[in-house]
Amino acid sequence: MSETAIAAPKPANPNAPTEEKVLSVEHYTDRLFSFRISRPMSFRFRSGEFVMIGLPAEPGAEKPKPILRAYSVASPSWDEELEFFSIKVEDGPLTSRLQKIQPGDTVLLGRKPVGTLVHDALTPGKRLYMFSTGTGFAPFASVIRDPETYEKFDEVIVTHTCREVAELAYSQKIVESLPNDPLIGEFVGDKLKYFPSVTREEFKHMGRITDLIETGALFEHLNVPPLNPKTDRVMICGSMEMINDTKALVEKAGLDEGSNAAPSQFVIEKAFVG
Ligand code: A2P
Repeated sequence: MSETAIAAPKPANPNAPTEEKVLSVEHYTDRLFSFRISRPMSFRFRSGEFVMIGLPAEPGAEKPKPILRAYSVASPSWDEELEFFSIKVEDGPLTSRLQKIQPGDTVLLGRKPVGTLVHDALTPGKRLYMFSTGTGFAPFASVIRDPETYEKFDEVIVTHTCREVAELAYSQKIVESLPNDPLIGEFVGDKLKYFPSVTREEFKHMGRITDLIETGALFEHLNVPPLNPKTDRVMICGSMEMINDTKALVEKAGLDEGSNAAPSQFVIEKAFVG
């Protein structure tokens, strides 16, 4: 009897990204857009975490290979879909193509969400601050839509600083939708305070968040006492420089940095793509 060698089928890589469908896309400026994709039943994450997002290899590319980058999930953990907030970089390997996605297109989603901008990395407190610049608002779009945030804190303050007023559109839209949201509105009540500021245009609040903290203008406007390690917890997300400068001020106020392994009074994460 002759034996025929049959190649065993290649087992599917259990760590490979899954293929998800684009459900909607919204453009805010020539630099910023958000999109929503399908969420596999098996995809679990904590509000504030990030995951790898990408596009399949471009057909006809010289070295066809999918491109993936870290993105904060902007939707809360209870949402049936996943939302992301992205910069558009003209010659960016991923965002030059990602900015052109349309409903029905395929986006790759990594399987392992991780991150430190999560409740688990903070010890209990009274007031939660979230300081963000640019697309650094993304993880906070998730955290401010999570009921746990309002169960854990009496007061929730989210700041978003951009160069221009138009770049605040995404954070403004989300914050404005919250009080009337049938799922989260009741939790939010009057606990959430939103402080937008702009650095390169006329606006009601102007200046870098670091300057507004340092001069005390932020606390004065919000009618709250200055940062205090006994009562306040802080999450920071923006460029590396913004994180370092904000972190220095938060540490000067006496707050200690936390992590998933050792929760404490403040946590940081870089806004990835950009
Ligand atoms: P500025 O206009 O003064 O540079 P970007 O789009 O470059 O990431 O900037 C987003 C926002 O973050 C801008 O308003 C910018 O202010 C601000 N920013 C940049 N660097 C810092 C920093 N080191 N500390 C605080 N804010 C910063």
